[in-house]
Amino acid sequence: MALAPYNDYWRMIRKLCSSELFLHKRINASAPARQNCIDVMIQRIKDDSLASRVNGESGEIALDKYLCLMTFNLIANFMLSRDIMDLKSEKGNEFYEAMKGFMEWSGKPNLVDSFPFLKWIDPQGIRGNTGKSLTKLLNMVSGFLKERVQEKLSGKVNETKDFLDVLLERIDDGKGTLDELSEKNVTIIVLLQNELDQVIGRSRKVEENDLNKLPYLQAVVKEILRLHPSLPLLLPRKAVKDTEFMGYSIPKDTTVILNAWAIHRDPKLWDEPLMFKPERFIDSKIDSKGQNFEFLPFGSGRRSCVGMFLGDRMVSITLARLIQSFDWELPRNVSPDSIDMREQMGISLRKLVPLIAIPFERHA
Ligand code: HEM
Repeated sequence: MALAPYNDYWRMIRKLCSSELFLHKRINASAPARQNCIDVMIQRIKDDSLASRVNGESGEIALDKYLCLMTFNLIANFMLSRDIMDLKSEKGNEFYEAMKGFMEWSGKPNLVDSFPFLKWIDPQGIRGNTGKSLTKLLNMVSGFLKERVQEKLSGKVNETKDFLDVLLERIDDGKGTLDELSEKNVTIIVLLQNELDQVIGRSRKVEENDLNKLPYLQAVVKEILRLHPSLPLLLPRKAVKDTEFMGYSIPKDTTVILNAWAIHRDPKLWDEPLMFKPERFIDSKIDSKGQNFEFLPFGSGRRSCVGMFLGDRMVSITLARLIQSFDWELPRNVSPDSIDMREQMGISLRKLVPLIAIPFERHA
């Protein structure tokens, strides 16, 4: 959908998303599935860290693999009512590799954007490699689709309709067309744990229902999205007609790119913009819904993120569970100030060097 031009197809999918998929009711109803995905991730972190200690190693783990796996399963459960990623299975690994390939290749700066005559040569192999990964992904997804169609044909009915059910219904009824982790950040982790201990306690797991009682957690998530917005350049826009904007003439069909990353770090808009200071969002009216133009982690306007509420919850509950379940330490020889915070662009922004940390289970 994000790759679709602004046309009838995009309008149909967007409408379907807003009216059927990203409803508060549906997001609330699917909270247990998310809880389950996070439980599985937490258990796997415990198991793998323990196994490493049993082997005489430090118990450190690379968090990105666990988060990636959990995130895809979380979205797949919401949209397809199933897990798609189990790194222990061959299929899961294939999906992971294809998705990684797609994200990395599609986010590379492409010479062809500046020299369109090179398009047919594809000098960096970006089109070819993105296409290969995408084809693999589409083949796997169409496998899920075929399975569901088979199930439907055999008379099986899902009690709670997921996105795939809604899409298939549409097709059936013919309406559709198919900074740094400095000492300060260590304090932030302690503050987060204090808030969680006070509001939830240690004897039960934090749940999505609790999130609005956790203002510090919410402020931390906003600060993360300010300094490290997942889509730093949002989605490219295309001027649908000749436009005059703030003294600039923008001819029809111009591609307009908006640098939210730079806006989020603009010293004219933010006090000490490069510092990770969640407290700036406490008692502040700035939210992430796209009305405050200095803070656009989910974009703004018609093409703003359709999964905004779900995304915000996913990040918040995942962070809350990781902080509630574990004390975190850095591997020997790594200090908070030496963590490499450089970023790399893929289809979304990621840490160039994955975070390695050692979890220690917190007990009730
Ligand atoms: C923290 C999590 C997320 C962040 C930071 C994020 C951010 C964004 C941003 C910045 C855009 C472009 C908006 C613009 O250009 O104005 C976008 C678009 C989009 N996002 Fe998200 N997103 C998140 C989670 C999700 C989730 C969970 C889903 C769906 C499961 C989703 C689906 C989409 C789609 C389909 C679009 C394209 C909308 C369109 O073209 O009309 N996002 N997202």
